[in-house]
Amino acid sequence: VTALAPLRQQMAPYACQRRTPLLHSNQLLTEALETLAEEAGFSGSEGRSLAFTRAASVLKALPGRLSTPEELGPLPGIGEHSRRVIQDVLEDGVSVEVERVKLSERYRTMKLFTKIFGVGVRTASRWYQEGLRTLVDLQERNTKLTRQQQAGLRHYEDLNTPVERGEAESIGQMVQEAVQRFLPGASVTLAGGFRRGKPRGHDVDLLLMHPEAGREVGLLSRVVSWLDSQGLILYQHSQENSFTLHEGPEAPGSRDVLDRFEKCFSIFRLEVRGSPGAARGWKAVRVDLVVAPVSQFPFALLGWTGSRHFERELRRFAGHERKMVLNSHTLYDTRRNLFLPAASEEEIFQHLGLEYVPPAQRNA
Ligand code: GTP
Ligand code: MN
Ligand code: MN
Repeated sequence: VTALAPLRQQMAPYACQRRTPLLHSNQLLTEALETLAEEAGFSGSEGRSLAFTRAASVLKALPGRLSTPEELGPLPGIGEHSRRVIQDVLEDGVSVEVERVKLSERYRTMKLFTKIFGVGVRTASRWYQEGLRTLVDLQERNTKLTRQQQAGLRHYEDLNTPVERGEAESIGQMVQEAVQRFLPGASVTLAGGFRRGKPRGHDVDLLLMHPEAGREVGLLSRVVSWLDSQGLILYQHSQENSFTLHEGPEAPGSRDVLDRFEKCFSIFRLEVRGSPGAARGWKAVRVDLVVAPVSQFPFALLGWTGSRHFERELRRFAGHERKMVLNSHTLYDTRRNLFLPAASEEEIFQHLGLEYVPPAQRNA
């Protein structure tokens, strides 16, 4: 019937079985669905949020532009509510429901507050309930803030200005130089959205490792102290490695997005010339530093490359289809009761019986 029909039939049910490029042809539709996903998340409706995210993700993998709702046919993962939204946008250019959400005081306030580094849905929601509406309200009413939130508020504008790829690369180099001082041979890898080919992002995700097992221990605190002594760090909080194989593999669940690597959540002071922050000569940039032992590196790289939805789908696929537990440290086969080691991301996909999906196609 349509140009999309033959390819639509190949649409696999899990996002990790599909190739999802950064640029796709249904931006208007995915933005509408993702607004509803975000709004559902703000209301604590995780299931509803996931349903909209899934629908958006399916549209991102379509090979062309959807022009009529009929073309959708029986696509997997698109529920009735999402279909209605898609139909409205296709017919009227907008969805009244989405426009209403975008204008609502609650959505706007939640968005404003959750954009503060260190503020999640729960905190934002509580502030909203207390009648707070603006960043000035937070200051005037002496709202109790953590050290992280104080830093987030102090650098609010910078941290909500996209990080350009060039800036991410500069920071990668700064960290690489610091790493070489203390542990020659250690590597620094740019992960996150930039590894998927995004031209800009909200932060810089860097993975540190050394090819000889154990040499990486103690590296991060030295690197961070040194960068700090050079005046390059505006904020940081570190977390020690708490991973141990003896506890056995962790079941997928609420904890599956978190890992136990030694890491540092920080704000760097980046010297900039030209555009935002130029007057000052520097810009605050969010940086995540993660240390992975060499044997876990492919799992860490896979886990920190994202997208968030791609990761969630990989873990769901591993559990439901393969009875395996995948996290950012290991892959465990519960039928054979053994860990499946991997020297590369490709090997992890092989263990899972999945076709390899390169980073640029993980924008689910
Ligand atoms: P932008 O930074 O917004 O440009 O996109 P991004 O895809 O890089 O997002 P983000 O930096 O939030 O996360 C990158 C990847 O790391 C995602 O796949 C997340 O699932 C993963 N990630 C983020 N935080 C954590 C964490 O604390 N633990 C683990 N294991 N993974 C995380
Ligand atoms: Mn990122
Ligand atoms: Mn990050």
